[in-house]
Amino acid sequence: MSWEPRSLPSQAGKTVVITGAGRGVGYFEAEQLAAAGARVILTTRGDTTALDLIRSRVPGANLEHVALELGSLASIRQAAESLRELGPIDVLINNAGKTGGVKQREVTADGLEIMVGTNAYGPFALTALLFPSITGRVVGLGSLATRLAKADLADLEQSHGTYSVSKAYAYSKHGVHAFALELDRRLRAAGSGVQSLLAHPGFALDGSASPRPGVTDRNSAGQRFGERLLRPMAHGKDRGAWPVVRAAIDPDATGGQFYGPARSVTGRPVLTTPVAQSADPAFGAAFWTLAEQATGITFDV
Ligand SMILES: NC(=O)c1ccc[n+]([C@@H]2O[C@H](COP(=O)([O-])OP(=O)(O)OC[C@H]3O[C@@H](n4cnc5c(N)ncnc54)[C@H](OP(=O)(O)O)[C@@H]3O)[C@@H](O)[C@H]2O)c1
Repeated sequence: MSWEPRSLPSQAGKTVVITGAGRGVGYFEAEQLAAAGARVILTTRGDTTALDLIRSRVPGANLEHVALELGSLASIRQAAESLRELGPIDVLINNAGKTGGVKQREVTADGLEIMVGTNAYGPFALTALLFPSITGRVVGLGSLATRLAKADLADLEQSHGTYSVSKAYAYSKHGVHAFALELDRRLRAAGSGVQSLLAHPGFALDGSASPRPGVTDRNSAGQRFGERLLRPMAHGKDRGAWPVVRAAIDPDATGGQFYGPARSVTGRPVLTTPVAQSADPAFGAAFWTLAEQATGITFDV
C-alpha cells in the first residue's frame, strides 16, 4: 500500500516511547506522532524544551517525559522503571544515538566503548528491561554507515589497535541492525505478537529541516557552515523522521523490515535492505551474546 508521510493514520489511543526525542530526527518523530494523536513519551537527557515546543505546535498533544542517559546502565534501569510505571507501550523507538563529539576512545559510565555502548548495548538493555510492557513494535535506528565498514565482532569495542571514531559509529550501527533483526527472528520463533523493525533517516540535517527554535538551531557556527556545504546531498531531519515513523506505525509494515529514504540519502520512506553482514543470523546471535555479557542483562524473548 502507498504511504503518505504528511497524512498519518490516527494514532489515538497508542503510546509511543521515543528515546533522544529532545532534538534531531527524534524530535520530529515525536512531533509527527503527537500530531497523529499518539501519546508520546519523550526521553531526553533532561532538557524538556521539545515538549513545550510540540505543545505549542500541536494543540492537545499528549506528552510525557522521562530522563534517560544511554551511557549509563544505572540510568537505563531507572528510566525503564519510570517508563514501566506509565503503562503498556505500543511502540518503542530506539532513536537516540551518539553521532559525534568523540576524538579518541572513550568509555561509558560502565566502561563500554562509548559509541557501541551508547548506540547498540544501551538500546539492547532498555528494550530487554521494557520488554514485558511492549505490546506492538520496537524500531531500531540503523544507518548507511554499515556499508562503510565491516564489523569485527572479536573486537567490537576496539580495545586493541588504533581506534577509529568512524569505525566505532559503523560498528555501533551494525550492532543496532544485528539486534533488531535477531530480535525479529526470536520474536517469530516465540510466536510473539511484538514486531521488531529497522529504519534509517538517510542523510538528514538540522539546517535543512523546517525551523524549530531551540531544537534545530543548536549547532555551532562551524557545524552550520559544514551543513550548508552538505545540503545539496541531504534532506531535513523532519524528512529523516519519515522512515522511522513509517516503521513505527504503518499497518502494512511487519517485523524484520527496514525502511529508509527512496534515494538512499533522501526521499520518501520505502522498504530497503540491510547490508549482508548485519542481516546474517549468526552475526545477530553473536551480537546478542556480546550484548548480554556487556550489559549483564539476560534478554529472554
Ligand atoms: N541524521 C542522519 O543523517 C542519520 C543517519 C543515519 C542514522 N542516524 C541515526 O538517527 C538517530 C538520530 O540521529 P540525529 O541525526 O537526530 O542525531 P542528533 O541530532 O545528534 O541527536 C541525537 C539524539 O540522541 C541523543 N543522545 C545522544 N547521546 C545520548 C546518550 N548518551 N544518552 C541518551 N541520549 C543520547 C541526543 O540527546 P542530547 O540532545 O541530550 O545530546 C539526541 O536527542 C541516531 O541514532 C543516529 O545514529 C542519523
